[in-house]
Amino acid sequence: MCGIVAYIGKKEAYPILINGLKRLEYRGYDSAGVAMLNAKNELNVYKTKGKVSDLVSFASGKDISGNIGIAHTRWATHGEPNDINAHPHLSRSGNLALIHNGIIENYLTIKKELENRGYKFKSSTDTEVLVNLIEEVQLTQNVDLFEATRIALNHVNGAYAIVLIEKGHPDTLIAARKGSPMVIGIGKGEYFIASDATPIVGQTSQVVYIENEEVVKVKLGEDLKLKTIDDVEMTPYIQELQLNLESIEKGGFEHFMLKEIYEQPTTVRDTMRGRLHPESGTIRLGGIFDYEKKILNARNIIIVACGTSWHAGLVGSYLIELYAGIRVKVEYASEFRYRTPVIFPDDVVIAISQSGETADTLAAIEIAKEKGATVLGICNVIGSSISRATDAGIYTHAGPEIGVASTKAFTAQVAVLTMMAIHLAELNGHLPKSRVAELIHELDLIPEKIQTTLERSTIVKEIAEEMKECHNAIYLGRLQNFPVALEGALKLKEISYIHAEGYPAAEMKHGPIALIDKDMPVIFIATNKSTYEKVVSNVQEVKARHGKIISVVTEGDVLVKEMSDYVIEIPDTECTYAPLLATIPLQLLAYYIAVKRGCNVDQPRNLAKSVTVE
Ligand code: G6P
Repeated sequence: MCGIVAYIGKKEAYPILINGLKRLEYRGYDSAGVAMLNAKNELNVYKTKGKVSDLVSFASGKDISGNIGIAHTRWATHGEPNDINAHPHLSRSGNLALIHNGIIENYLTIKKELENRGYKFKSSTDTEVLVNLIEEVQLTQNVDLFEATRIALNHVNGAYAIVLIEKGHPDTLIAARKGSPMVIGIGKGEYFIASDATPIVGQTSQVVYIENEEVVKVKLGEDLKLKTIDDVEMTPYIQELQLNLESIEKGGFEHFMLKEIYEQPTTVRDTMRGRLHPESGTIRLGGIFDYEKKILNARNIIIVACGTSWHAGLVGSYLIELYAGIRVKVEYASEFRYRTPVIFPDDVVIAISQSGETADTLAAIEIAKEKGATVLGICNVIGSSISRATDAGIYTHAGPEIGVASTKAFTAQVAVLTMMAIHLAELNGHLPKSRVAELIHELDLIPEKIQTTLERSTIVKEIAEEMKECHNAIYLGRLQNFPVALEGALKLKEISYIHAEGYPAAEMKHGPIALIDKDMPVIFIATNKSTYEKVVSNVQEVKARHGKIISVVTEGDVLVKEMSDYVIEIPDTECTYAPLLATIPLQLLAYYIAVKRGCNVDQPRNLAKSVTVE
């Protein structure tokens, strides 16, 4: 979703802002803009629909000078993506420029009040309303911008991360946040502000994460001045940034998504490092160590998540129930937050999120906390809002995921859940020790087997060639391969814009079978031994209707292989670990189809990496 970069220091702001925006491109956006205050106290604002490169062309030849500036990539919520609705937005006097992530929910009421006082609005955005509200407070209450922002934000409902610059104040940036994340980088005689740390990497390693409902004054030559919107002074907590440049660059791959798919042998190994101990046949999950008893005695484990993370949650539910015998429910966070979920204080809620910023997942956590449940997190981004809102948790350690379509974060989440399931069984004795040791030994081999899966996936390019013109596709799997089918279908939809559905294979005859004809590719994930024969029957049913059969099977498979038009073989492993392998060729399939269709793989249309609004 929207991205924020701001700079103040001795250097020219513009190149820093543009580079920062480029690093934020992965979040998904539809327009971009910058504002710099030059030495003549002129506030130059350039903004345009389209990409950061369009902004650069637009600003070329114009005055881009100044040592202070703010920049934004917008993902439209209020008002269509166009030049006028793009940020920054100016106040009526032209003295203030504001960039904003999030949604001001009561903006229409505020807009009406301001219109009654003679304000006229150029855009359809809530952001233009906010900048004028701040200016109105500044003028009517005769306070400085820091104070005006603080007071104004008391009148605002919703989520925001904002940065303001003001004419006549070339040494000061004002920022605030609620709901949407914000981080400040502290350099030598310079400051950076961003919606996540990626634009700051390589500039400084000293950062301060702004907390909800905090306003900050970033003034050259002074320490950060931090206050809550209720006027309580806060002390900034300076931390060391744990991201390096290499991890946020493409490293020779054509797209971030491809790089991230190929990183999976390493990322899954990183996820398990220090946690999986095959030599002693044990697992140690330090992050939830103090909560093990609570989990073991949980009446229910409730997993809340969105998108791909929800699919990982489904895989986790199969494994935890199977290995540890604890009841698990998996909920879409967006639904969970609005129904009246039955949650008991002895329930354990596990929130899964790559970004750790998904608004619905955060809201679900709040509800679970209100009901007194223990809330754990499985997050990828260290220090993210969800990781801070939960009682404890496990980081996935997959490294920054830049491609909008999630890949390595999914396998890392599944790896965490798999370890958790085995560990719980180890603790409650639901599985014999020897079986636990066997499972741990096999899990340790998974990174290597992911590598083998990648090497064997050359056939995927051929399948992509065959499928690139199709309009629909069906993905089928059973048990823990059902979420793999959902995830395969989601990947295809997200990046190639081909309609795809994932189904439990046996459900095919209750509807989807009506769709099958010679133009319908059906992708079977047929690695499960216990339901193998059932899936074979489903394959036959599709074949009888002339559907195109693409199957992911275990090496050595005969029956399904014979009936399939295309086969992808994955190494033999525990059936329950198949999601960690079978997902890989499906990621590659979506990737190659999208590339062949000329789609923007890393930034698919309308999608955002981090969904910080409802
Ligand atoms: C967005 C992303 C998806 C992701 C989902 C949940 O829709 O495009 O890739 O799965 O949000 O995000 P989270 O960061 O909570 O895992």
